[in-house]
Amino acid sequence: MIIEVQDTQLYVEESGRGNPLLLIHGYPFNHEMWHPQIEAFSTTARIIAPDLRGHGGSPPSKGPSTMDLLADDCAKVLETLGVDEPVTVCGLSMGGYVAFAFYRRYPSLVAGLILAATRAKADSPEIKVKRDESAALAEENGVQAVTANMLPMIMSPKTYSTNPELVDRVEQIMAQTSLQGMVSALMGMKVRPDSTPTLDAISVPSLIIHGSDDQIIPLSEAEAMHTSIKDSQFEIIADAGHLPNLEQPKLFNQIVKQFIDSMKP
Ligand code: MLT
Repeated sequence: MIIEVQDTQLYVEESGRGNPLLLIHGYPFNHEMWHPQIEAFSTTARIIAPDLRGHGGSPPSKGPSTMDLLADDCAKVLETLGVDEPVTVCGLSMGGYVAFAFYRRYPSLVAGLILAATRAKADSPEIKVKRDESAALAEENGVQAVTANMLPMIMSPKTYSTNPELVDRVEQIMAQTSLQGMVSALMGMKVRPDSTPTLDAISVPSLIIHGSDDQIIPLSEAEAMHTSIKDSQFEIIADAGHLPNLEQPKLFNQIVKQFIDSMKP
């Protein structure tokens, strides 16, 4: 369905029944990256999976897609859908950066946090330079030039050798990102604040999931979040890279289901 937010519209996938589970995808993806979760949780949760601005079916807008802007979009989606109880927020990678912003801005709307393949830290000066380089490459040679560089890094060696269909699928999903959406997301991630100070303040049940072979965000970043978020649960998924929910969906879903069940009163 299409939902009006602030100055634009978002495509939002909604399905299933149960307590609300907001799935926030990473860059440069869209709700389709949650396909195994949307299928598995249809009787466990009410899934709300937006395409962030400029990704998938949502048109881009000019200027940086800051994490605050994307969090506000998510809040507007929940409001429009009439969700007024706290939700479990699950963000993967950039979706995790958005989840931190959402927690800071709407703490009363968060029942639990699932932080997958993400980090709390802001971009280092080196990564900021890489954001500019990626944006320039996209402007010059198109989205595909950037995604072609990402594709060989984004999953685990095991996935590349055993699951070529998934590699193709991931390539197709990334290709649905618009040029402006890609540039805006890169600029938004570049200016995002350090969420490390937020970690100490998190007081909802929190689950951190990371692939053992993540080449985009090192495992040490997940360990650091686990150390700082009080009583957080930490799960490492073997033979998964930066997309553990797609590379090892059964295990990912089992961990998430147990977490959701443990939150029930
Ligand atoms: C993502 O998967 O969302 C991005 O790789 C995150 C990033 O570039 O920092």
